[in-house]
Amino acid sequence: MRTRLCDLLAIDHPILNAPMGMVAGAGLAAAVSAGGGLGLIGGAFRDPDGVRAELRAAKDLTDRPVGIGFISHLDETADLAAAALAEGVRVIAHSFADPTPFVAPAHDAGALVLCQVRTVAEAERAAAAGVDVIVAQGTEAGGHTGRVSTLPLVPAVIDAVAPLPVVAAGGIGDARGIAAALVLGAEGVWLGTRFEATPEALVSRDFRQRIVAAGTDDTVLTETFDLAIRMPWPDGIAIRALRNRFTDEWHGREDAVRAWPPERADEYRSGDYLFSRDYGATPAGESVGVVRGVEPAADLVRRLAAETTAILRERAGLLLG
Ligand SMILES: Cc1cc2nc3c(=O)[nH]c(=O)nc-3n(C[C@H](O)[C@H](O)[C@H](O)COP(=O)(O)O)c2cc1C
Repeated sequence: MRTRLCDLLAIDHPILNAPMGMVAGAGLAAAVSAGGGLGLIGGAFRDPDGVRAELRAAKDLTDRPVGIGFISHLDETADLAAAALAEGVRVIAHSFADPTPFVAPAHDAGALVLCQVRTVAEAERAAAAGVDVIVAQGTEAGGHTGRVSTLPLVPAVIDAVAPLPVVAAGGIGDARGIAAALVLGAEGVWLGTRFEATPEALVSRDFRQRIVAAGTDDTVLTETFDLAIRMPWPDGIAIRALRNRFTDEWHGREDAVRAWPPERADEYRSGDYLFSRDYGATPAGESVGVVRGVEPAADLVRRLAAETTAILRERAGLLLG
């Protein structure tokens, strides 16, 4: 199973972990790269020193290249990206913003730019900006995402940006999903939720167990968490997370959260809520339904690649003559 993405990124399998802020550190990224995919460090919510430290830690863990990705509408992204490029990173991913300002500095430093998009219009903007790979992210995705589903989005984006390689993201949690994405024409896949259930993910044991226990209909796409912490996101973007007491109480009552007095928002923001079971966000996509256990990331990449190959072979056998 080799695609153009394997050649472009010099990897064995066209499988990337999503650069999940606060969840994908050097350990996860290095393990994914060691397994033959491309590991991406979640660069968001760090400072330049943190970015440098994480990239150095990854280098100590694997000889294979590791990339980094950002939440690019955040003000500090230009500084973080500059720190990563100065550290010698060769793959840099941007999401949730117009990538134009980030492309030239990356290319000047010899790095490839991946850009995650949620609509065809965003894909066209990224292609016009000169990015090297488009990541089409469907609404099934865990974490922040848009409103269009992966199945229609991926082929529409491929048509819009051809011949640029397109990677599929959102709702892909096993080899069947990877095979489907490749049949849609994607050159690779980028998985977040599946990699939350690895020992390398920077989450608690309880968080991993929630991911393994959840079913496909246990998630909700909601603005409530971001409203509660007063963290604005670009229009059309909300977070998909596991439903819990907080979303049961506030989802659909967004105006009530907007109207929280500042002290209440401060209290919520400063509490130990962030990844807590009942009142915090457990970012997860609909693919949680096929995540059945915790597995080391390198083994997971190898197993997914082998199973995808087997599925594609077997399905080709459906053809008569
Ligand atoms: C915990 C978590 C954190 C995430 N953080 C980021 C991030 O910092 N930057 C980003 O571009 N995408 C982020 N995402 C979204 C992923 O890039 C990706 O689109 C998504 O996980 C793919 O869908 P899946 O979860 O169904 O595999 C995050 C997703 C999760 C689950």
